[in-house]
Amino acid sequence: MTSKILFLAGSARKDSLNKKLAKVAYELAVEQGADATFVDLKDYPMPLYDGDDESATGLPENAVKLKELFIAHSGLFIASPEYNSSFSALLKNTLDWISRPHSVKERPLCAFRDKVAALASTSPGALGGLRGLVPLRMMLGNIQVMVVPEQIAIGAGMSAFDEEGKLTDEKQSRALGLVVARLISETSN
Ligand code: FNR
Repeated sequence: MTSKILFLAGSARKDSLNKKLAKVAYELAVEQGADATFVDLKDYPMPLYDGDDESATGLPENAVKLKELFIAHSGLFIASPEYNSSFSALLKNTLDWISRPHSVKERPLCAFRDKVAALASTSPGALGGLRGLVPLRMMLGNIQVMVVPEQIAIGAGMSAFDEEGKLTDEKQSRALGLVVARLISETSN
């Protein structure tokens, strides 16, 4: 069965390094035969989660749309910036909203249950955002996502991509390809 994988970055920024990384991973997945979709969180703006808003008006339309996209894919590839040793508030807020049920018939955590994820990060610093992936991995595991052990953190992200957004270092590109290959292999049966 062809793997259906959703690619996203935990940054909405136009020139986001993590969006570039998620896009490179998306292209590698297409080359490897996956049915891949790239989604830009900038296209799914949501308010900061507030239980009163949820009680009053339910989930934002964009949370429901994004949740449906998650449900339609068996794999998730997430490239997240590191903000002060954790993953971005944008990513947390988005995942919090889509973890909420929007109908009484809905299975709990249906956007995450039985999914497989692979993680990546890049930052201008030397560690490439690696420390932010630790809490992200833990949080996803707690909401029943299986996170593959392979991951990649690319340091000096400002010079890691060429004009076309491709990774300039062949070794990094190969390492990213291996992360993507593991995600495909875990989602293709
Ligand atoms: C950062 N940045 C950062 N980088 C890092 O390697 N470790 C860190 O702990 C932090 N902390 C941090 C906090 C806040 C509030 C900001 C705004 C930034 C820098 C960050 O990696 C850089 O801005 C990236 O370019 C952000 O990712 P995108 O938007 O390029 O994908």
